[in-house]
Amino acid sequence: MNQPFTLKIALVGMMASGKTTVGKELARRLGVPFFDSDREVVSAAGMSVAEYFARRGEDAFREFERGTVARLLAGEGALVLSLGGGAFMQAPVREMLRGRARSVFLHVGAGELVRRLERTDIAKRPLLADSPDWRAKIAELLAERENIYNQADVRFDANAPDPVALARELAGLLRRERENPV
Ligand code: S3P
Repeated sequence: MNQPFTLKIALVGMMASGKTTVGKELARRLGVPFFDSDREVVSAAGMSVAEYFARRGEDAFREFERGTVARLLAGEGALVLSLGGGAFMQAPVREMLRGRARSVFLHVGAGELVRRLERTDIAKRPLLADSPDWRAKIAELLAERENIYNQADVRFDANAPDPVALARELAGLLRRERENPV
């Protein structure tokens, strides 16, 4: 029988890197609650992320996102938290996570991100919808952000297509880390 899992895990990475799908399955496997910062923003603000960007702008969104992450990290219990793709880019968010959570960068290459995003509604993603060429924008954002994402505690290759298999692998890795801290 596995020991209860007592850590907070924060999943970091680009849109469509699987933070929510892998995160839900990871939380189920670890037996801890799952939260998604975008979903929390939407329910607290009473509007979608796209509407938030359109009405109040990106800076206001980032501020609201920061407050939301702070609230989610304030509790004592273990959890898996999927962070919106830009949240970890904010230094205060990285600071909040330090010492309170184990951050995991789900790394997916630009080509695979584009393939996944082609199956979704781009209009719901303001940073892409507002760009003349969203495919190029993905590659650009990844190049801009990767050095910061790499500051996460763990870098996990999430290019494989099956979120359940990825969650199984990641749960195993996180449990082994707990049992054999370096
Ligand atoms: C963003 C990613 C989105 C959402 C917003 C901005 C980003 O979240 O927070 O559209 O800056 O990468 P997901 O990564 O959950 O799609």
